[in-house]
Amino acid sequence: MEKSICEQHEKLYAELDKFIEEIHADGSALIEVLHKAQQLFGHLPVEVQEYIAEKLNIPVSKVFGVVTFYSFFTMKPRGKHQIKVCLGTACYVKGADRLMDRFKEELGVEEDGVTKDGLFSLHGVRCLGACSMAPVVMIGENDFYGRVTPDEVPKIIRNYTK
Ligand code: FES
Repeated sequence: MEKSICEQHEKLYAELDKFIEEIHADGSALIEVLHKAQQLFGHLPVEVQEYIAEKLNIPVSKVFGVVTFYSFFTMKPRGKHQIKVCLGTACYVKGADRLMDRFKEELGVEEDGVTKDGLFSLHGVRCLGACSMAPVVMIGENDFYGRVTPDEVPKIIRNYTK
């Protein structure tokens, strides 16, 4: 099992190498390279950041600075469908914490966790800008659910498991 994970990783690193060579990347192409790496690995763990720093001949601190600055980069694994439960004030007042608890229970994960099948990750986020529809949940970049009750959670999840 361990071997296959290593082999899989080797393949991903080889693909990243190929990309870096193709675009003749140096330090100025850092963001482009990070995008590619996140696409390949799903997230940007420290070892991948160190690898990129070495390849581009720049300090690891610079890579880390960019990864933590831009919200579209993540160091944590994410599921295929990212569930974002708004925990902003308006949503909180309308029971967002109970909603979050129900998602945790149904998915068997904690906040920022990923389900074993990799299908979902669960995140608490700040105001999504739709307070009048509180409490609000977003799945991926496009699916928006307003005035959600905890009892609707299983049905919402089922929309993505069919
Ligand atoms: S507080 Fe949740 S959408 Fe504004």
